[in-house]
Amino acid sequence: MKAIQAIRGMKDIPPAETPVWRRLEDTARDVLAGYGYHELRPPIVEKTELFRRSVGEATDIVEKEMYTFADRNGENLSLRPECTASCVRAAIEHGWLRGRGQRLWHIGPMFRYEKPQKGRYRQFHQLDVEALGFPGPDVDAELILLSARLWRRLGLEGLRLELNCLGSREIQQSYRDQLVDYLSAHVKDLDDDSQRRLGSNPLRILDSKNPDLRHILEAAPRIVDCLDDDSRAHFEQLQAMLDASDITFLVNPRLVRGLDYYTGTVFEWITDDLGAQGAVCGGGRYDGLVEEIGGTPAPATGFAVGLERIVALMQSGENVPAPLAPHAYLLAVGVEAQRAAHTLAEQLRDVLPGLCLLVDAGPGKFKRKMKTADRSGAKLALILGEDEIRQQRITLKDMRGDGGQVSVARSEIAEKLQASIDFND
Ligand code: HAM
Repeated sequence: MKAIQAIRGMKDIPPAETPVWRRLEDTARDVLAGYGYHELRPPIVEKTELFRRSVGEATDIVEKEMYTFADRNGENLSLRPECTASCVRAAIEHGWLRGRGQRLWHIGPMFRYEKPQKGRYRQFHQLDVEALGFPGPDVDAELILLSARLWRRLGLEGLRLELNCLGSREIQQSYRDQLVDYLSAHVKDLDDDSQRRLGSNPLRILDSKNPDLRHILEAAPRIVDCLDDDSRAHFEQLQAMLDASDITFLVNPRLVRGLDYYTGTVFEWITDDLGAQGAVCGGGRYDGLVEEIGGTPAPATGFAVGLERIVALMQSGENVPAPLAPHAYLLAVGVEAQRAAHTLAEQLRDVLPGLCLLVDAGPGKFKRKMKTADRSGAKLALILGEDEIRQQRITLKDMRGDGGQVSVARSEIAEKLQASIDFND
């Protein structure tokens, strides 16, 4: 029978990789706690309308990348392509924004029907961080400092920060008109994708990676030149705060984002070490979104980190965490010994918290069981045979050092293990 495989673009994270994920997630939790952010766990499925209204009808995500279906009741639902909309929906629904701000985070899978390639998947994971209800550039700066601290704590180097300011909806509208006028004058030179976007989402043309368009885009009008005084002051204050904290950044006037809800500051952290999929984190301010999805107007800002991309960077560095080898492997030979093995193992786990003890399972000869013990990477083997059962003793074999073995009274085995194992290792 033909074996069933995973869905294209959705990959298993195998046991050999989960220690890296664990390190990333634990470090993120730790850093976020240091800034007073709280974990939110929203559902993975939401009403499609939520993403239409927030991410935007004219975006690639909503136009062609969502996993959308009708449930048995005919309700139109989607697997979330991102998490900002869910955080805002939850905050409005539970009244968390009444008179106060909320600092939230979530880690989990997102779904986009994109063309799978290295660093781009159909199921991928984000760390999503949102600060709702804060208007000032200080919280934009806090988010950037938080992300910079995360990179430092993970030992990641060489990430570049790019910033831009998109201004209010009104500024974006008038900039959009200017840009369309300019690009329409060069329409023959635009590629198919850009010509299509000219009518639907012209700002995204600025993001084109096509080198043939570079000269046209470099001479295009810049949104930073269209900002009003408030937006300009906000952006300048943010830059001054980053300067004061020694965060290096580049203002990239062509940085636009693939989601429609942004107003004001936008930013991305980019690496050159992952080929085409270099953006490891992106975000910005979305002061209109709370109102657009039905809440009382409230400012907001946030970012999301692409965890697959960060894991790839961590794996290319030194000091990659490997799956933990057990401290000890308990093997029992003979019916009586096998019966006693789990009782002994449970007693040892009771008195030695932190002990990783693998108990041999299934039938087999002693030699074969020893081979499995060796392959497990355990430092010690605990051998329980008929003689040992009769004498109330256990044979303890050093699997990594000189291979020597000693016979230990059962009553003393816990003490002996305590002395032989480094539990912090
Ligand atoms: P985004 O730029 O669409 O923003 O995604 C953030 C990050 O998720 C990207 O920089 C990238 O690292 C990762 N990512 C996106 N798509 C994929 C994919 N198909 N495969 C692997 N990684 C991917 C957002 O999602 C916004 N919600 C961020 C935000 C939060 N803005 C404000 N708050």
